[in-house]
Amino acid sequence: MPSQNTQQITLTRPDDFHLHLRDGAGLQSVLPHSAKQFARAIIMPNLRPPVTTTEQAIAYRERILSALPEGMSFKPLMTLYLTDNTTADEIKRAKESGFVHGVKLYPAGATTNSDAGVTDLKHCAKALEMMQQVGLPLLMHGEVTDPEIDLFDREAVFIDRVLLPLRKNMPELRIVFEHITTKEAAQYVTDAEGDIAATITAHHLLYNRNAIFQGGIRPHYYCLPVLKRETNRQALLAAATGNSNRFFIGTDSAPHPKELKEHACGCAGCYTALHGLELYAQAFDQVGAIDKLETFASFNGADFYRLPRNQDKVTLKRQSWVLPEQVPFGETVVVPLNAGETMQWQLAQ
Ligand code: DOR
Ligand code: ZN
Repeated sequence: MPSQNTQQITLTRPDDFHLHLRDGAGLQSVLPHSAKQFARAIIMPNLRPPVTTTEQAIAYRERILSALPEGMSFKPLMTLYLTDNTTADEIKRAKESGFVHGVKLYPAGATTNSDAGVTDLKHCAKALEMMQQVGLPLLMHGEVTDPEIDLFDREAVFIDRVLLPLRKNMPELRIVFEHITTKEAAQYVTDAEGDIAATITAHHLLYNRNAIFQGGIRPHYYCLPVLKRETNRQALLAAATGNSNRFFIGTDSAPHPKELKEHACGCAGCYTALHGLELYAQAFDQVGAIDKLETFASFNGADFYRLPRNQDKVTLKRQSWVLPEQVPFGETVVVPLNAGETMQWQLAQ
């Protein structure tokens, strides 16, 4: 049993297996935050226009590397955005490039910049078959978009309507169920046969849906899939800190300009790149499982993606520090989750 009095822990440098870096001036602002914490990250392709080809992924990778400040190291692991028109050839090119590590499924209309997403997986049969053949994982935003389905039920319904039939048809397809938010998803990933894993965000480990409405509407706690009720949070914590090696970090850090979050129709996304690892440490520490953090943060994801584990180490100290109210984001600013609040863990320099 770990001590609640642990004052510091040293762990293998973690990776972030789900990250939105955006592009242009915004990219320049947020990239150093991720690079300070994480060695590598799976980079989401939901730009405008989306990254749908290997050529675009390679060009985006170049832009990321050029935005990296001198002296920092960071390895972007690129993804393609799956559309109804993605060809098997494109998948083959992606795999052969060595730069593309997954293909992202956004059901059309599910979230930010998902308009070009998949309307029905049956249109993607050829692409999915090729992914299965070459071992390129499908990274799923696992929510149905049917407006008849309650927003809080869309992940659980996705398992029955989309995931189960897909896995029956393509049992060898490697899958990452991204940013899971429910006990149903945690249970499914724990028990399922075959090559499936899931990312869990720090905010879904730390908060339930009450956080969105605490004393008024709190747009910075709004993300998709939306925070769920407490029983689900407990199930996610149990999965992240338990013995299954199928769960790992994916911050889903998703910066939006402050004025578009604090808006009559605010964007979905929590900005956590600044303090991602510290948030996970807080969540694990709260349930006395800080000793389980390294497996979740630094081993499980690398193993699933068949990447070497990182060699260098980072140290987290139990010490208070106050998060800024906002940080620059291109021409504007982004408000981090927990802005202005005191953090309990800090990454040593
Ligand atoms: O909250 C979210 N923000 N969920 C997503 O799926 C997309 C992301 C974004 O790109 O802003
Ligand atoms: Zn995301």
